[in-house]
Amino acid sequence: MTSYGSFPSGAFPGVRPRRLRTTPAMRRMVAETRLHPAELILPAFVREGAGSPVPISAMPGVVQHTRSSLRKAAAEAVEAGVGGIMLFGVPEDSKKDAVGSPGTDPEGILQVALRDVRAEVGDELVVMSDLCLDEHTDHGHCGVLDAEGRVDNDATLERYAEMARVQADAGAHVVGPSGMMDGQVRVVREALDGIGRQDVSILAYTAKYASAFFGPFREAVGSSLKGDRKTYQQDPANVRESLRELALDLEEGADMVMVKPALPYLDVLARIADSVDVPVAAYQVSGEYAMVEAAAANGWIDRDRAMVETLTGIKRAGAGMILTYWATEVAVRLARGE
Ligand code: PBG
Repeated sequence: MTSYGSFPSGAFPGVRPRRLRTTPAMRRMVAETRLHPAELILPAFVREGAGSPVPISAMPGVVQHTRSSLRKAAAEAVEAGVGGIMLFGVPEDSKKDAVGSPGTDPEGILQVALRDVRAEVGDELVVMSDLCLDEHTDHGHCGVLDAEGRVDNDATLERYAEMARVQADAGAHVVGPSGMMDGQVRVVREALDGIGRQDVSILAYTAKYASAFFGPFREAVGSSLKGDRKTYQQDPANVRESLRELALDLEEGADMVMVKPALPYLDVLARIADSVDVPVAAYQVSGEYAMVEAAAANGWIDRDRAMVETLTGIKRAGAGMILTYWATEVAVRLARGE
């Protein structure tokens, strides 16, 4: 370490970090973290039977897509150089049931949307699907319930295996098991391999917390959840538990791992990124998006700067990929050199 202080000869301050901040060109040159469109992944919702896109009030600017508006959004993402798209299906309420049948129906909205998007973008965008039951169940939990109303881990795994098969059949390049059931990655890997789909990757939601920041998402998927997910999602107080989940996911066959939410968990992200050799993603969730949008709408924060600053912080902490509802907008701005 250089010793800083009175260098060169009594002059103080001898070392002036501000020299490297003098001009935009200088700052650009010495920047340690740069965002790139290809590392951004756009989460998108598609609603069964929607006649036109339905705005999500808690996520200004985000909609529940119709089949055709989703195709358009996917095409725009390709155009902007976005890396991937993560699809969430919102089935009609009347089709939701206790076991989440729309999630395994080849004609369920998520599978229909996967086929639509693949038809639109081919292999030009990495097409991912949420592999979880909460969008499809009438009780809103991420799994099936036992007689006492508790989420039944092992019965849920059988449903996830079936979801993996139908999502792969529908064209998912990557499936994202997000239900935090024990053993979910292994079960999904075996299900995919069992139908000869060794080529489909698994993005494991490794560290997913029981977070208040998922609030707006519940509106986005029309969730009917009462209660909470604390018996399967992690306690925000814990980081060692995430490292344990990480070890399990890797052992079970995860190709990529994810931390979610992002901003309140940058320490978890940094710990995980430092300890693995697989790609690490972070999910800037609905509540993180809503906070910035709401503050900006009130004139309390500079929206565009806050957007880039949050994403830069997430990347700096170690994310190689970031799921963000701003993906296309940011990619377009990056392409313009902003
Ligand atoms: C579960 C799932 C959730 C999110 C993504 N996948 C909700 C939850 O676990 O409660 C949240 C995403 C967001 O808030 O943006 N299928």
